[in-house]
Amino acid sequence: MRKLLVTSALPYANGPIHLGHLVETIQTDIWVRFQKLCGHEAYYFCADDTHGTPIMIAAKKAGKTPEEFTAEIQKQHYRDFNGFFINFDNYYTTNAPENREFSELIYEAAKKKGNIARKTIRQLYSEVDGMFLPDRFVKGTCPKCKSPEQYGDSCEVCGSTYSPTDLIDPKSTVSGDTPVLKETDHLFFKLGDYQKFLETWLGKGVSPGIKRKLDEWLTDGLRDWDISRDAPYFGFAIPGEKDKFFYVWLDAPIGYMASSRNFFNQNDPSRWDEFWKDGSGEIHHFIGKDIVYFHTLFWPALLEAGGFQKPARVHVHGFLTVNGEKMSKSRGTLVRAENYLKHMEPEALRYFYASKLGPGLDDLDLSRDDFLSRWNADIVGNITNIYSRLCGGILPKLGSTLSKSISKEGTALKKEGMAAADKVKQHFDTLEYAKAIKEISAFADSINRFVASKEPWKTIKTNPEEARQVVTDALNSARILAGLLKPVVPSFVRGVENLLNLKEEITFQNLDQKLPSEHIIHPYRNLAGRMDEKVFDAMLEEEARLAAAEKPAASAEKTAPETGAKSQSKASEKPAEKAGDQAKSGLISIEDLEKVELRAGRILHAELVEGADKLLRVELDVGEAEPRQVFAGIRAAYKPEDLTGLTVACVANLIPRKMKFGISSAMLLASGKDAELTLYTAHRQAKPGDRLK
Ligand code: MSP
Ligand code: ZN
Repeated sequence: MRKLLVTSALPYANGPIHLGHLVETIQTDIWVRFQKLCGHEAYYFCADDTHGTPIMIAAKKAGKTPEEFTAEIQKQHYRDFNGFFINFDNYYTTNAPENREFSELIYEAAKKKGNIARKTIRQLYSEVDGMFLPDRFVKGTCPKCKSPEQYGDSCEVCGSTYSPTDLIDPKSTVSGDTPVLKETDHLFFKLGDYQKFLETWLGKGVSPGIKRKLDEWLTDGLRDWDISRDAPYFGFAIPGEKDKFFYVWLDAPIGYMASSRNFFNQNDPSRWDEFWKDGSGEIHHFIGKDIVYFHTLFWPALLEAGGFQKPARVHVHGFLTVNGEKMSKSRGTLVRAENYLKHMEPEALRYFYASKLGPGLDDLDLSRDDFLSRWNADIVGNITNIYSRLCGGILPKLGSTLSKSISKEGTALKKEGMAAADKVKQHFDTLEYAKAIKEISAFADSINRFVASKEPWKTIKTNPEEARQVVTDALNSARILAGLLKPVVPSFVRGVENLLNLKEEITFQNLDQKLPSEHIIHPYRNLAGRMDEKVFDAMLEEEARLAAAEKPAASAEKTAPETGAKSQSKASEKPAEKAGDQAKSGLISIEDLEKVELRAGRILHAELVEGADKLLRVELDVGEAEPRQVFAGIRAAYKPEDLTGLTVACVANLIPRKMKFGISSAMLLASGKDAELTLYTAHRQAKPGDRLK
């Protein structure tokens, strides 16, 4: 029996869980459920990652203490994961006493070994904000290509990376203040001290592909890692230092230890040591490809410094795209777990991800038709069909009772299932979920074919005992089928277990068991229903609406973080008083006009839309991180190639509209009709995103 301690990366406590996070938790949950069903001792631990400047600032904006703010988000995260049947043994927080204790302990141990260095650095500091600004809290003009409004670490236009001190005309994104360079002492973890150790550990801790990538770093030599941040900071104070805190990435992975410690403390505290101390248990981390360095260089080195057990394996997955593109807030494709659950079946996502996932780093795409057909064709059409035909259509006419035993043919079918099970087990264990699903589907096909060839719905009229035998044979195999599906769609399988009136739940250890002689099956209740395109589209539309609704609040807060929310509500009180009078006169107030966000937009690209003779699809830069997609009815007047580079007037805060071809997130201003239609373009140089007034 294996002893496994399994984790998913700890989501940041500053935003909702979305379908990207769920790639990871679903992948992990399937693995843990599988291991448990095989009789191994497995635990699944996670937590919210609560520390750092972004969370501190978000809490302040929300008018809450960071503790209150992160506690609320942690509850929401847990609730969302629960909605997808993610079965954590403990879902904790990094802002916990256990985490502080281990962070201090590891730091002290590293210090004793001489792995901590103190260095004076120069960083941008804002007098107004009263703090040093992390890279993402500084914006300015790119030193290379001179594009304005770029973050302090990299330019989104030319792709170059630099230090925030290189930015031209830097500004704090918190207050707009111009920061100044200031010296401060930081503490560094000397990662190079662990070079030899890491070279060895990487040989078994990661896949050969990842090892090759990391080797580049190792040959270049490992640089010291900055592990301290100055006050004000939401995190743990560094012992023996004044106004210095551990950088969030120091204590975040230690959160794995804390979450498991918190769990075992409630049961048997000595068990914790089996995983983190004496090495009789295995630690498995599941993470996305964006956080590999933290988990495969810094983290094992910290554990080594503290004298703790290292991970047996770090499993890395790729990223989720939606309809072939990076998930994007404005396009409504950064779908929140909560929104998904309002519209669709949680297990459809679990099944879909499983059908796509392998052990590698490949990204996976959630496209509507592919997603829907997986559920509708496999789970509803192929698999549910077996149970509904047998238990809903035929068995009630036979007193819901099975035969005394399985026939020869039934035994052969069952054997086929057990052979499939051997492969499926192997596939689950090695994270080859897509292969497992193929194998399972093929077995479902076999059961369906068996039933179809025997036509029990016909024989029941002439020879009911023969029909009973067919149902008995098929259901014995369908019990195996349910078992194989269990790590992926546990709730669906729970329904099958109820239907089959099982005294003992199906596991990978009792897969071969037969249904009892003359067993009575429960009345059939629908196990899974079809989902159509409308529900998927409704989900994306709602997401786009939610994102659009958040926008004005965010921009108001950008300029005045402390008072933004208040002054905004004041502004909206005024027009309401006079709304009645104004409606009569047809005149509007300045406040009414301000509700319409007219902005300059630069057309980056335009193209024909297949199947629409009036529309062009336009990519419009309105000064945001990503261009917006607009469908404009201007095809009769413009050729796509004539539009690229034009700066046009647009309405930027219209509720995004779902059209047949995609979501349209702005409106171009034009007058005239058909071939005479004309767009309104800027007379001089104008910056995308500038407000028209
Ligand atoms: N807080 C850190 C992790 C600390 S672990 C000690 C963090 N948080 S996160 O919320 O940004 O991401 C959590 C996990 O979700 C990461 O493993 C990340 O790779 C994964 N994903 C976030 N977006 C994703 C997709 N779009 N697709 C797949 N996984 C993604 O990083
Ligand atoms: Zn640039």
